[in-house]
Amino acid sequence: MPYLIESSILAGHIPTLKGDGFYRQTPANAKNYLMKVIGIETSCDETGIALYDSVSGAMFQRLHSQIKLHAPFGGVVPELASRNHIQRTLPLLDELLSEAGGGKGQIDGIAYTAGPGLIGALLAGAAIARSLAWALNRPAIGIHHMEGHLLAPLLAAGDKPEFPFIALLASGGHTQLIQADRHGCYQMLGQTVDDAAGEAFDKIAKMLGLGYPGGPEVSRLAETGQPGRFKFPRPMVNRKGLDFSFSGLKTFVRNTIASQTEKAQTLDRQTIADICLEFETAVVDSLTIKCRRALRQCNTPRLVIAGGVSANRRLRQKLTEMALQEGGAAYFPPPDLCTDNGAMIAYAGYLRLASGARQGNEISARARWPLTELRPPRQPETEHL
Ligand code: KG4
Ligand code: ZN
Repeated sequence: MPYLIESSILAGHIPTLKGDGFYRQTPANAKNYLMKVIGIETSCDETGIALYDSVSGAMFQRLHSQIKLHAPFGGVVPELASRNHIQRTLPLLDELLSEAGGGKGQIDGIAYTAGPGLIGALLAGAAIARSLAWALNRPAIGIHHMEGHLLAPLLAAGDKPEFPFIALLASGGHTQLIQADRHGCYQMLGQTVDDAAGEAFDKIAKMLGLGYPGGPEVSRLAETGQPGRFKFPRPMVNRKGLDFSFSGLKTFVRNTIASQTEKAQTLDRQTIADICLEFETAVVDSLTIKCRRALRQCNTPRLVIAGGVSANRRLRQKLTEMALQEGGAAYFPPPDLCTDNGAMIAYAGYLRLASGARQGNEISARARWPLTELRPPRQPETEHL
């Protein structure tokens, strides 16, 4: 369902380069930093379009989910995803611009997700963004999807994280612990050696006959689960280092489902809820232990959590408590900006464009793109795509 974040909800809460929230000082080479920037997110199965106005701090947003389109196939079909992005992007942009008041002429810059993701889906967004930029004679910039997620907590009301911080990026394709020294300067501390956390939620949901995406479904059922009935392992917690692994936990859950089904033919609702609760708690414990380790290892008090899994209520609560115990604080995106959206791309694009970053006109995207290859926006950007 398309939806819109009313400007009044976010107005004034988002740091601009003029303010002191994100950069303590205005970057020395910041040009045209009062801008209206369009964000286009098409890396997977959601078309996210947003308009960020740095003067008012307003963010307008539209989102079209392709969940229903892919549901009959049991997973995302890349070709269908690309075609649907092509059909949806411009009509959504027109809707958004008329809602925000004004046409395409008001756009000062265009940001789009240039990777990582499904290559056809990315190229659909890149082609539209670059063509629009060419026609309007405005700059366009390719944004790293995970940098979009990482900066999304800056769109939350209230306290914003300042660099340096530790970031847990947990989505359907990534589970990474990042040391973010400053904007565009990221070091990898640890990552999953097999499934991503969101992927594990999706696979468990499938095993239990729940819908896609699995995270929200498992989380909803876990609310009615009874603690203590099952005991699943906490993956990788006894191993040194900051890597994650979720495939052993997944196998454990599969075996549990098999033995319960043997006993009772079908799983009753309470058993499903109990499995969901224990699975969710095991994932949350594992992520929390590694985040605590990372904060201690890097001697950094600030923890940022982003990506689809950061919408998880139990995870938010547990990481908030842990960061407080460590004498620091945890920062999250607003709940509706945890999963893929155009707002995070518009904002990440605004920060780079307003700092003077520019790229060539070629239409390109990268299915794989390590976050650690990014550079701060004040350096020339042309080589990273
Ligand atoms: O960031 P995202 O929208 O897309 C990717 O970049 O992958 O993340 C989607 C992932 C899915 O695997 C979904 O199951 C998971 O985030 N997710 C959740 C929750 N909401 C979404 N996982 C756990 N709890 C949630 N509440
Ligand atoms: Zn994502």
